Amino acid sequence: MKSLLVFILAAGTSYAAENVQNIPAKGRFRCITGNTTDFSITAIKDGSAIAEGYMLNGTYAKAPNGKLYPTRFANREGFSFSAPCKNRTLLEHPVHARVPYGYTGGTPGAYRLILAYNDPQTEAIFCGMVAHSHKNENDFVQCAYQQT
Ligand SMILES: *[C@@H]1O[C@H](CO)[C@@H](O)[C@H](O)[C@H]1NC(C)=O
Ligand SMILES: *[C@@H]1O[C@H](CO)[C@@H](O)[C@H](O)[C@H]1NC(C)=O
Ligand SMILES: *[C@@H]1O[C@H](CO)[C@@H](O)[C@H](O)[C@H]1NC(C)=O
Repeated sequence: MKSLLVFILAAGTSYAAENVQNIPAKGRFRCITGNTTDFSITAIKDGSAIAEGYMLNGTYAKAPNGKLYPTRFANREGFSFSAPCKNRTLLEHPVHARVPYGYTGGTPGAYRLILAYNDPQTEAIFCGMVAHSHKNENDFVQCAYQQT
């Protein structure tokens, strides 16, 4: 039994995609802009795994305007993200509410995962979500975690 557990843990660590830290086990993130859009944990897991891939392999997803993601999130709004992300450099990466959740280029849409690196930079940490508000392209609103 013990060796089986060790095996499962070891197998898990070989997939970076499953290692994004700090994603809640259940609930959703609700983004309220001109409308209300909910992001499932599955969407966040899939989207974060794609973002983490770029963070770890040093390549980028390209938007039609030439912008490259993931990119630094300046947090001019001063949002408070989850505790493991305090004092860390924040990155933003687009995510979609519907399949395919992960952003690999093209129109980035309004929604962003906020991520940071862990200390040896072997994994990503999920910090939270923001959305471009309907009114101003440069203004973000924070998406709220809801335990469902
Ligand atoms: C880097 O990661 C992204 C996102 O996970 C993936 O789509 C891409 O193929 C990877 N590129 C390389 C060169 O490994
Ligand atoms: C973040 O950095 C500030 C200033 O260096 C420090 O006072 C604070 O304790 C740090 N917070 C955490 C959670 O590490
Ligand atoms: C909701 O608003 C966002 C931000 O303006 C927009 O990108 C998105 O397409 C809208 N979604 C729907 C379903 O109208």
